[in-house]
Amino acid sequence: MMQQELINSLNWRYAVKRFDATKRIDTATWEALEQSLVLTPSSYGLQPWKFFVITDEATKAKLPEMSWNQQQPKDCSHMVVLAAKRTMDAAYVDRYIASVETGRGLPDGAMDGYRNILHATVAGMDAHLDWNSRQVYIALGQLMVAAAVLGVDACPMEGIVPDHYDALLGIADSEYTTVVGCALGYRHPEDKQAEAAKIRFPASELVVHV
Ligand SMILES: Cc1cc2nc3c(=O)[nH]c(=O)nc-3n(C[C@H](O)[C@H](O)[C@H](O)COP(=O)(O)O)c2cc1C
Repeated sequence: MMQQELINSLNWRYAVKRFDATKRIDTATWEALEQSLVLTPSSYGLQPWKFFVITDEATKAKLPEMSWNQQQPKDCSHMVVLAAKRTMDAAYVDRYIASVETGRGLPDGAMDGYRNILHATVAGMDAHLDWNSRQVYIALGQLMVAAAVLGVDACPMEGIVPDHYDALLGIADSEYTTVVGCALGYRHPEDKQAEAAKIRFPASELVVHV
């Protein structure tokens, strides 16, 4: 992909207000988007998240009432709910370190130094959900860029009620909690928002070359 193609894709995308409820993302495209979620980088590589994918029509029909009456979660093809792990602890760190040692063919204990740093970092922090939620937003960004590059429309959604989504997903008493949603599919031809000019402050103001 050339530079201008990337910029074209990022200009093409916008936060869709009205999806075409008749269009669905094909399997191969969806699998690529799912991989973009899984491949998201996170602090220390801990991946403190789960991604729930809602495609069942009856379930999607329940979503506007827990999304400030926004219709995108119902009309889209795939509604992704990005959830953060509520806590972080030594046992989770150990499981992650073991997966690195196995995945990279390292002997047991090869990463004990790194493990100790991580244990100390996690123990010295009292806002695990905040930290984990910040990682979740990286996944949201990566998903949105991947979607734009593949010509899939999206609407990132904070206008959802996390407690109600947690109840629907059956995670209210679990280690995970809803942070943000992302509706994915294809824009309705009459979505007026598609014609709205993209509004950004000038790069000269936002980007500082030092
Ligand atoms: C984290 C986040 C949450 C958002 N929540 C909503 C939402 O609930 N409903 C909605 O219609 N748009 C939502 N938006 C879309 C923003 O309003 C939109 O991205 C912004 O105005 C820039 O416009 P553009 O994405 O069309 O370029 C959200 C965007 C982000 C990044």
